[in-house]
Amino acid sequence: MIVGMLNGPNLNLLGTREPHIYGSATLDDITVALTAVAAELGVELRTAQSNSEGVMIDILHGWRGIVHGVVVNAGAYTHTSLALRDAFSATAIPFVEVHLSNVFAREPERHHSMLASVAIGTVTGLGADGYAFALRGLVAALRRGA
Ligand code: DQA
Repeated sequence: MIVGMLNGPNLNLLGTREPHIYGSATLDDITVALTAVAAELGVELRTAQSNSEGVMIDILHGWRGIVHGVVVNAGAYTHTSLALRDAFSATAIPFVEVHLSNVFAREPERHHSMLASVAIGTVTGLGADGYAFALRGLVAALRRGA
């Protein structure tokens, strides 16, 4: 089984970006940790990050028929991008949405996700560990036939 981790805008700055909100782990730290969890679960992990909505959509198109599921933190595009939701629907790639911060405890404009209605599930507010929880949940759901 091959799974993807897709990160959106500004997540390349993790570690220095508002650490009181997003923590001190860098995206590389998260990638290393998630690669270890993937190995434990016996799945192959592909990773990508882009600050561009269109590039994220192109990445999903490229993963079509290759990855079996995706852990995605779409950053602010979570709250705005119907195009990204359409890309998940169009490629039929199952996914779990993850957020480092608890978006529901933040500004009202972060309370709505364009993606959540077509996600397997969502992990929010558990920091960098949330990626591992999301991957474990994704793989369990895929193994159940999601
Ligand atoms: C985020 C939450 C979003 O609202 C924000 O725009 C981000 C990061 C998170 O991981 O907590 O860029 O997705």
